[in-house]
Amino acid sequence: MTSCSTNVKSGADFSIAHDIHSYANPELVRVRHLNLDLQVIFEQQTIQATAILTIDLSERHPKQLVLDSRGLQIDETEISPDGLKYQEARFSIGTVDKILGAPLRIDIAPDTKFVKIRYSTDPTATALQWLYPEQTAGKQHPFLYTQSQAIHARSWIPLQDSPGVRVTYEALVHAPAGMRALMGAAHASASPDQNAYRFVMDQPIPSYLIALAVGDLVFRATGPRTGVWAEPAVVQKAGAEFSDMEKMLEAAEKLYGPYRWFRYDVLVLPPSFPFGGMENPRLTFATPTVIAGDKSLVSLVAHEMAHSWSGNLVTNATWSDFWLNEGYTVYIERRILEELYGVRRAEMEAALGYQDLQDELKSHPPVDQILHVNLAGRDPDDGATQIPYEKGALFLRQIESVFGRERFDAWLKAYFDHFAFQSITTAQSLEYLRKNLLAVDSQTLPHVDAHRIDVNEWVYQPGLPVSAQAPVSEAFRSVDLKLADWLKGEKIDTTEWSTQEWLHFLRGLPEKLDATRMRRLDKSWRLTESTNDEILDQWLLMAIRNRYEPAYQRVEDFLMTVGRRKYVKPLYEALDRNRATAIYEKARPLYHPITQATIDAIIAAKK
Ligand code: BES
Ligand code: ZN
Repeated sequence: MTSCSTNVKSGADFSIAHDIHSYANPELVRVRHLNLDLQVIFEQQTIQATAILTIDLSERHPKQLVLDSRGLQIDETEISPDGLKYQEARFSIGTVDKILGAPLRIDIAPDTKFVKIRYSTDPTATALQWLYPEQTAGKQHPFLYTQSQAIHARSWIPLQDSPGVRVTYEALVHAPAGMRALMGAAHASASPDQNAYRFVMDQPIPSYLIALAVGDLVFRATGPRTGVWAEPAVVQKAGAEFSDMEKMLEAAEKLYGPYRWFRYDVLVLPPSFPFGGMENPRLTFATPTVIAGDKSLVSLVAHEMAHSWSGNLVTNATWSDFWLNEGYTVYIERRILEELYGVRRAEMEAALGYQDLQDELKSHPPVDQILHVNLAGRDPDDGATQIPYEKGALFLRQIESVFGRERFDAWLKAYFDHFAFQSITTAQSLEYLRKNLLAVDSQTLPHVDAHRIDVNEWVYQPGLPVSAQAPVSEAFRSVDLKLADWLKGEKIDTTEWSTQEWLHFLRGLPEKLDATRMRRLDKSWRLTESTNDEILDQWLLMAIRNRYEPAYQRVEDFLMTVGRRKYVKPLYEALDRNRATAIYEKARPLYHPITQATIDAIIAAKK
């Protein structure tokens, strides 16, 4: 320790993009490191914790450290210049905002370097899902996992909960006997006698990527740097499904430079996980619904892995810049798929994505069709539509097609290098694009018309520019022809169809189908019994819309096990009020708070 009596950093960089979704004051005091000691208590659905934050003070002599919090019970706060001697510090919690939670203000001294907070989480913490044994595959042990994106980290850790702030961390997690704790970090020496697990993340990451899971979990390697974690009953199937991960990683590295996070593992969660996947560094969290048995839904792994470059390495500075994370990631996801499974597969995925985008554009007002979206007064989770994903990816595809792959790939690789471990705004990203690709190449490549890409229109205007090119899938043309034959009552040959071709076929059928046609579909291809959740979800939706009774039991069973929002949301929307309420009454306690909030709103709107 130094002997100086202040912790004022004259050279340190405190500049940061303003984030409307955080109360914190990182422009004055910056949290650099987090030391967590966590005790996971299932009986009370709480985490009892001590967090020690290492901070830098700017020259503007801040008197308080302001953190984000939501529902945390704060027991005591202390400050220290050296991490040895602590003295009690005064704190206050501000007014609670429904979306943002409440600021936690802690008084600090000019020499404060460490801030210690003893606290516990509330059973309703929005980042946490506490599962009963019945909700797991093994049915013996409970399960806990976190989901911090977008602004839920503050419900289990008091911190500067903005994607513009990056921290390193270490943690000691005390888990109940017989259960394993995992974090997206290096596993340091555990002490098995006390069942405590130690983790170290020495690469600076934004708070929304901090993740924890506790359950009956085992590991299976899929390669030297990759593997799966899951409950014992699931781990073998998961390992087989994701056996291409090592190859995916190599493909991505070839395109975008070295994988910087050492390991890439996937944790397969119980089916109530509200998302498809979450790109927690070194340890993607994933829904078990992608385990179809034939690798047909592994685009999800390609997607979360792609975030190791777009999102985790180069991060959106605010939630209005979310498209920088997701649009780039969808583009890269499809490049990885192309490398592994060929152009035909990648183009089918792109075409399905384009359909999603068209549907999404129809159901959102112009202001929400803008990539750099205005989220004032709103929960950033509301900005997570298909628009940042698919419009963002289409924008990059367009640049690629104008400048050619070779140039675009080189540019993108340099972009990740240039901004590695930084959080950047849309403006910063576009400036780098203009300077290093658009401007340079319009001089050296006279045949390239850079004006074919109106960057401002793509990023700041609603809808799609007229020059936007729709992906074309040859495979889908042939599906379309067969679909027309089927509608005429003819038999069609579907033996060679992949999941993607099935999805295109089902989506292409008329909205209204009479009972005879519904029965014909089900009888020919046993869709109600499908073990592919993507196909099943599409089919069940059609079944509800067309009041096809034989599928209703399956709808109920599906909603009683799966909590993935993408699947359950449209099903509840389609169900009539009586059925929806009856099923939801039973299913609600099984869902994650995020899914609960979504479905609560749908049910309320039916009343
Ligand atoms: N980071 C997202 C998940 C997310 C977004 C969580 C916004 C909270 C707020 C993740 O990478 C993602 O996009 N998941 C998708 C799957 C993907 C294949 C499109 C999902 O969960 O549907
Ligand atoms: Zn994503």
